[in-house]
Amino acid sequence: MIALITGANSGIGLITAQSLAAKGFELILLVRSQAKADETKAAILAKTPNAKLDFFLTDLENLAQVKQTAADIRQKYTHLDRIINNAGYAPNTIEFNADGLEKSFVGNHLGHFVLNYHLLDLVENAAEGRIINLASLAHNAGKVERFFKKNYPSHTKWSAYGDGKLANVLFAKALAQRLKKATAYSLHPGVVSTNFGSNFTGILGFLVKIARVFFISPEKGAETTIYLATADFQELKNHNGAYFDKKRPKAISKSDVTAQNADFLWTESEKYV
Ligand SMILES: NC(=O)c1ccc[n+]([C@@H]2O[C@H](COP(=O)([O-])OP(=O)(O)OC[C@H]3O[C@@H](n4cnc5c(N)ncnc54)[C@H](OP(=O)(O)O)[C@@H]3O)[C@@H](O)[C@H]2O)c1
Repeated sequence: MIALITGANSGIGLITAQSLAAKGFELILLVRSQAKADETKAAILAKTPNAKLDFFLTDLENLAQVKQTAADIRQKYTHLDRIINNAGYAPNTIEFNADGLEKSFVGNHLGHFVLNYHLLDLVENAAEGRIINLASLAHNAGKVERFFKKNYPSHTKWSAYGDGKLANVLFAKALAQRLKKATAYSLHPGVVSTNFGSNFTGILGFLVKIARVFFISPEKGAETTIYLATADFQELKNHNGAYFDKKRPKAISKSDVTAQNADFLWTESEKYV
């Protein structure tokens, strides 16, 4: 079985990669630099010496690079059993790219959309293809009405992060509507002690530092991702498009999570593929 994981060098992504390698998955790992690839390779091989690993250096905020990575993957692989859209971060400052899009929205959602879009047929080629999005409880801070607004003036770091994580939830729903054979899910991993939040400065940085003792371990935080990647297909097939928490599907109360908004996200994202 072949699994692609983004953000595989740190936190939940690294534990997921180590765990799936130990279970015999062949891994395609997206990281941002050769140094990170080397460290990740050593960390996985230390636990599973015969692990089969293939690294692609990709910044998800660079959509041209993402498209090239998808093309390079297509040259080497004819099917993908899992795509785990794990990479993500909450921005410490609000910045916009050349298209006027808030950068963390691009990193958290649009980069993954473009990557997945160009690989969807490979997931459909797998016997039980699955796409798994690392969303968050923070999707509650998101608002679809802000999506794709150019140089949006009133973003805070939490509204920006919330938008990206809401997009992760809606993207799983949009995929579930469009995939013919494969399935898609989103999840909240818990509040996990990883590098997440280590970029925060000021009072928020201080608060994250002291609250960290209450956070769960990356091993615990990776449990729902690993469950969705490895659970029996029969167990999951009635939950296509669902949001999971603690290895269980969880009802979403956020009013922005609608089929119509999932379609809107898909149509707008398609303009960047
Ligand atoms: N930790 C939590 O409490 C928590 C809660 C809810 C949801 N989540 C979600 O869980 C996922 C994993 O986060 P984590 O907690 O494991 O944090 P982490 O340790 O900071 O790992 C995040 C990973 O994402 C990568 N990444 C970030 N921006 C990227 C970009 N533009 N292009 C490529 N890779 C990029 C990072 O790469 P670099 O090392 O190069 O920066 C890193 O590998 C994220 O999607 C996060 O939103 C985390």
